[in-house]
Amino acid sequence: MRKPVAVFAAAALLGSASLVVAQNPTTLPAGAGHDAVQGACAACHSVKVVINSSGYSAEGWQQTVNSMIGRGAKVPPDQVAAMVDYLAKNFPPQPAPPAVILPGTEKVSFQEWALPTPDSFPHDPMAAPDGSIWYTGFKVNLLGRVDPLTGKIREYPLKTPKSAPHGLTFDKNGNIWFAAHDRPYMGKIDPETGEVTEYPLPQAALGAHTPLFDSKGNLWFTLITSNRIGRLDPRTGDVKLAVSPTARSLPYGLVITSKDVPIFAEFGSNKLASVDPNTLEIHEWTLPNADTRIRRLTITPDDMIYYADFDRGYLSRFDPKNGEVTEWPSPGGPRSQPYAMAVLRGAIWYVESGTEPNALVRFDPANEKFQTWGIPSGGGVVRNMMVTRDGDHLVIAESGVNKVGLVTVARHDSSAHLQRRRQPARPGLARRSPQPTGPR
Ligand code: HEC
Repeated sequence: MRKPVAVFAAAALLGSASLVVAQNPTTLPAGAGHDAVQGACAACHSVKVVINSSGYSAEGWQQTVNSMIGRGAKVPPDQVAAMVDYLAKNFPPQPAPPAVILPGTEKVSFQEWALPTPDSFPHDPMAAPDGSIWYTGFKVNLLGRVDPLTGKIREYPLKTPKSAPHGLTFDKNGNIWFAAHDRPYMGKIDPETGEVTEYPLPQAALGAHTPLFDSKGNLWFTLITSNRIGRLDPRTGDVKLAVSPTARSLPYGLVITSKDVPIFAEFGSNKLASVDPNTLEIHEWTLPNADTRIRRLTITPDDMIYYADFDRGYLSRFDPKNGEVTEWPSPGGPRSQPYAMAVLRGAIWYVESGTEPNALVRFDPANEKFQTWGIPSGGGVVRNMMVTRDGDHLVIAESGVNKVGLVTVARHDSSAHLQRRRQPARPGLARRSPQPTGPR
């Protein structure tokens, strides 16, 4: 497949490693283990996921193969070793591209908290209305709550082993909801008692990913492994599912418009899709570049979509009213892997998860200018972020460094600053106009 000229030219600047990828972007090199990988690893996504990955050590590939088997990859046990050898030999770790730091008008500060359980793999973060920061401990079967005032962290263990909690959100009564990625249920936690309630999903629903409530109290969620979108009515426990029209489309990030229409990213193709909230009929948009792959997206108060093109390293704007797409190369380049996203004070904020360190990026749609900051701990792949209720902070989960972070974005006007000093310093408590919460 031809790569767009812009990506090609920029890749050349990054040295020989990216050129190898650019020259032979679609097929696996020959060698022992090739057939096993080709056979088992193209069932859900294309082998380009392997070819375009940043590479791993043998140990890293062993973990990746194990995790794919956990997701349902059919690998005969006697082929695992050959497969890992082949992957490690042909796709060793490539040095991450350095973060590109661009100065600008905004001031931010970072606070980060190390989590109590090693290797929790905080996948998604959530800014709760009370100012606390929640996260899913994807690898350790728990949710956690950080109090940013005291640094105190409380863990909430789940009932069912190996649930792999992934995305999370909250309801109007202050309960925390999460998607159990590896077990067929959606979960609810009472933050006071820690009690977990499980809402079972039909057998066909696998890989619950990103949950979000609409204004009527329905819980919508993407199902990455089973290529579906779901709607749960918490009042009755009733679940409705719809299958994505594109096979293996990997339903991923999710937003809901002001008209209560869910829009989600299909990470397995170059498509976005909307869901009719009543019939659950899915309508797809095919995006202009065949190599576009979207994980997260975010939405402005006037229902304009911004998405991060993970595979190409672009930030894009999509207008669902007329299908128009505008795109900007992300500052960190084609391998910057833009991922977590949110809208704060009219600007688009996201994280380049492929750079070292991960870069926090601000894009101002008014003047189309970028500003970036290196994340102090390195970030370790920031997969999701969310704006606090007061609109002054972003919460981030730093999966690979086992930390959760709070980014404070300074206000410019002095009157807002004075007003803020009279209010509690706790993020989220200063009630301004309701803020869009971004994708989760
Ligand atoms: C049952 C479906 C399935 C099969 C088969 C499968 N994968 Fe995956 N793979 C996924 C999904 C789903 C994701 C996206 C994970 C995410 O973004 O959370 C993924 C992502 C990946 C990634 C990107 C990792 C990351 O964190 O972004 C790599 C690399 C990968 N797969 C390699 C493989 C290899 C190697 C094989 C063969 C052993 C394989 N996959 C087989 C479902 C599968």
